[in-house]
Amino acid sequence: MKNFCRSTAHLLAVFTIVLLSCFDACAQTQDAQVLYHRALAATCANCHGTDGKGIENAGMPIINQLTDKNMLAQLMAFKTGERMGTIMPQLAKGYTDEQLQVIASVLGKK
Ligand code: HEC
Repeated sequence: MKNFCRSTAHLLAVFTIVLLSCFDACAQTQDAQVLYHRALAATCANCHGTDGKGIENAGMPIINQLTDKNMLAQLMAFKTGERMGTIMPQLAKGYTDEQLQVIASVLGKK
């Protein structure tokens, strides 16, 4: 009985450790994903300002008033050539559709 209790306790301990490390791994994966999403959106900051807020007198459109849907539509239009532009058509082609979705969801209004 003593042995049984001990091995049950042992099993429980192992189970708890496995469970905790799973939570930790999940949290880390989520952190990495958030970082990746923010890093993608940050590639736009040179011209459109941090979080798309714009840079004073830079002559670039302020993009943070666009909804995420509208922003994605504009990005896809640049990518497909439906919308003309000087910089954005070339730039948009450098991202996958999934990356543009992520960027629009980070920078666009919900
Ligand atoms: C090198 C400067 C530069 C960078 C970097 C840049 N943009 Fe642009 N963006 C422009 C310019 C210039 C325009 C005006 C259209 C054109 O001439 O290409 C524009 C237009 C836009 C528009 C249309 C705005 C409107 O009111 O319809 C959106 C949306 C946009 N950019 C999103 C982005 C996103 C998202 C990124 C990052 C992936 C990005 N831009 C990176 C320069 C830039």
